[in-house]
Amino acid sequence: MISISSLIPLALLICYTYANPTLNNTVYIISQAETPSLGIDGLTPVGLRRAQHCIPNVFKGLGIGLIISCTPDPDTGACFAAVATVTPLAQSLNLTVNTSCTTGDHAEDDCASNLIASFTQNSTAAILAVWDAGDEDTFVDNLTSNFDGIDIPDQKDDDGVFHHDVFTIVRTGASIRRLSQNCSGIDGKALGTGRLPGEACDT
Ligand SMILES: *[C@@H]1O[C@H](CO)[C@@H](O)[C@H](O)[C@H]1NC(C)=O
Ligand SMILES: *[C@@H]1O[C@H](CO)[C@@H](O)[C@H](O)[C@H]1NC(C)=O
Ligand SMILES: *[C@@H]1O[C@H](CO)[C@@H](O)[C@H](O)[C@H]1NC(C)=O
Ligand SMILES: *[C@@H]1O[C@H](CO)[C@@H](O)[C@H](O)[C@H]1NC(C)=O
Ligand SMILES: *[C@@H]1O[C@H](CO)[C@@H](O)[C@H](O)[C@H]1NC(C)=O
Ligand SMILES: *[C@@H]1O[C@H](CO)[C@@H](O)[C@H](O)[C@H]1NC(C)=O
Repeated sequence: MISISSLIPLALLICYTYANPTLNNTVYIISQAETPSLGIDGLTPVGLRRAQHCIPNVFKGLGIGLIISCTPDPDTGACFAAVATVTPLAQSLNLTVNTSCTTGDHAEDDCASNLIASFTQNSTAAILAVWDAGDEDTFVDNLTSNFDGIDIPDQKDDDGVFHHDVFTIVRTGASIRRLSQNCSGIDGKALGTGRLPGEACDT
């Protein structure tokens, strides 16, 4: 027979929640590069240029020791473009992209955070993550719920439109920052576009 007193330690064990670890490693969250329209898979020529010629240059000197992406799913096509986006960078750093976390219905919500937590036990190297387009926000949300010390400022520069060049930097003790990869020839403002001199400016 199970006595009440033997259940008390069990209840304590279940109720006790550990403090979240501090995320001391810098995490870069990038977007998948440009993909073709109308359900065609792969990257567009611009996306391939971003993956091969821009991303490796932008991220090569930042001490990245772990690159993670999601598991490619042949049924839905998910994650193929994300993995293609970081494969040239991984090759240039002699790293293997860790794709052990799945997306979709079988996704384990804390998979990426657990992977990051396990890496940070033994390494201070920076981490770069890429998921499918639009998943960047849930990625940051999940990090903030699983690690302490991440400060999310108002995203004044967030225009609600998805941009492939934007990446997010998460670093403990510093506000989350968003920057453009500034890929030459494909990012930033094309000459002759935008407000004309004298036109209203709402800032
Ligand atoms: C993060 O850094 C703080 C302060 O240096 C340290 O106390 C803590 O143990 C570190 N956390 C991890 C997971 O390494
Ligand atoms: C990657 O490995 C190759 C061959 O082992 C080596 O020549 C190269 O220096 C390494 N690159 C980096 C960034 O570690
Ligand atoms: C990816 O990370 C998981 C969890 O830490 C680990 O078990 C697995 O061996 C890693 N895979 C690769 C290819 O590094
Ligand atoms: C970290 O290093 C220790 C000591 O070498 C080892 O026992 C442990 O398995 C490592 N943890 C991870 C997540 O690799
Ligand atoms: C974050 O967690 C949510 C559920 O809370 C999950 O749906 C989503 O896939 C996770 N995102 C990532 C990038 O792991
Ligand atoms: C991209 O250019 C903007 C404006 O010139 C600059 O503020 C930002 O730091 C640059 N991004 C990177 C990754 O260098």
